[in-house]
Amino acid sequence: MSNVKPAEGKLGIMVVGCGAVSTTFMTGVLMARKGLAKPIGSVTQYDKIRVGKGDNKKYLHYHDIVPLAKLEDIVFATWDVYPQNAYQAAVYADVLKAKDIEPVRDELEQIVPMKAAFDKNFAKRLDGDNVKNCKTRWDMVKELRKDISDFKQQNGIDRIVVIWAASTEIYVPYNDKIHSTIEALEQAMKNDDREHIAPSMCYAYAALKEGCPFIMGAPNTTVDIPAMWQLAEQVRMPIAGKDFKTGQTLVKSGFAPILKVRNLGLSGWFSTNILGNRDGLVLDEPANFHTKEVSKLSTLETILKKDEQPDLYGDIYHKVRINYYPPRNDAKEGWDNLDIFGWMGYPMQIKINFLCRDSILAAPLLLDLCLLSDLAARAGRYGTQRFLSFFLKSPMHDYTKGEEAVNNLFDQYVMLKNAIREMGGHEADEEID
Ligand SMILES: NC(=O)c1ccc[n+]([C@@H]2O[C@H](COP(=O)([O-])OP(=O)(O)OC[C@H]3O[C@@H](n4cnc5c(N)ncnc54)[C@H](O)[C@@H]3O)[C@@H](O)[C@H]2O)c1
Repeated sequence: MSNVKPAEGKLGIMVVGCGAVSTTFMTGVLMARKGLAKPIGSVTQYDKIRVGKGDNKKYLHYHDIVPLAKLEDIVFATWDVYPQNAYQAAVYADVLKAKDIEPVRDELEQIVPMKAAFDKNFAKRLDGDNVKNCKTRWDMVKELRKDISDFKQQNGIDRIVVIWAASTEIYVPYNDKIHSTIEALEQAMKNDDREHIAPSMCYAYAALKEGCPFIMGAPNTTVDIPAMWQLAEQVRMPIAGKDFKTGQTLVKSGFAPILKVRNLGLSGWFSTNILGNRDGLVLDEPANFHTKEVSKLSTLETILKKDEQPDLYGDIYHKVRINYYPPRNDAKEGWDNLDIFGWMGYPMQIKINFLCRDSILAAPLLLDLCLLSDLAARAGRYGTQRFLSFFLKSPMHDYTKGEEAVNNLFDQYVMLKNAIREMGGHEADEEID
């Protein structure tokens, strides 16, 4: 039997950013709960996993194994640099057709972005003015904490999850003096250290202090620092990140295992894409792209390991490019070229052309990450939730202890299934289904 607290009452989902991903997610949830759309791509809504073995095995939906919050119980809130409500933002994003937005127009119009904790230095291409007027980073934290507690009280909400679906910030590398302990982090916020404290860190700190799980959907290093790991443990709340695993990296982490299990060699993997939405615009700025590049590049090396197979993976040239190209808007086109080699070193090539829709791929991940981190909190799990790596491009892991991220999609799926089994009171196992 599951020993997880029941999912009673309302679940508040506070989304940082009211852009393409965020509005596609919110609109889809509102439409799905009216029976007007199907939440395709969401494992919590569709997947069935085996529990038990041999004659006792059964294949069950997640909600039949563990108590998940229902779509009907979700209440949304958001913050954005631009003041447009979620209906206007969804129309602007131009991802969904009017027929898929209009039936929930009233509900979307009520989701009005709160003022953002924002610093233009972290996303130069944005110029909205729906921004908090804060003197210091510490003031940002205080105002965000108030936003969270007001939302909770005013809407009679029981539990809240905060998820970042806002623009990618410029790269903030780990700094031992600032990011290694909670005390140092707090001091830097009070000292208004604008270089080392990204606005996203203020959202994460505020969420955790208010007793909410925090999920980082962009590649920002926000919660991927020891100070935040310690804070999450102190307040006993889950954290997860970074970067939703949607298009090319999903393909990469699913395809690289084919080479590995067949012991084929890889000499180069070139990934490029064209993208024309606001995300693409922000990523057109080199400092913002660098954050994404670091995240995207990390996938291969933990699947195709240089040290374990020097003949096959000793010298991989891995390159990732993103090109801002407005005519395509959210309909991203990705090209992957793999230079592989086989028997006696003979070269071959594989080309993958993915004509995807960025926000359509991301939306179900937001739903799953929110529902599963709320579940984890009710199960008493806290700190980095490695079982959520399945949904993330650059999964968090304790690099200070030499721990490696698990990037192989199928290993991540085993971790996910076992966490669900365990939270449902079943035995974890690695049997093949
Ligand atoms: N769609 C995907 O496949 C995918 C995959 C992985 C990661 N992501 C990431 O998800 C994020 C959202 O993508 P999108 O396509 O919705 O972008 P978007 O530009 O449409 O939306 C982002 C919104 O965040 C707002 N914003 C920026 N800084 C903010 C702040 N400090 N506080 C509040 N709001 C802020 C912007 O004004 C904008 O409206 C990006 O960081 C993107 O890199 C997307």
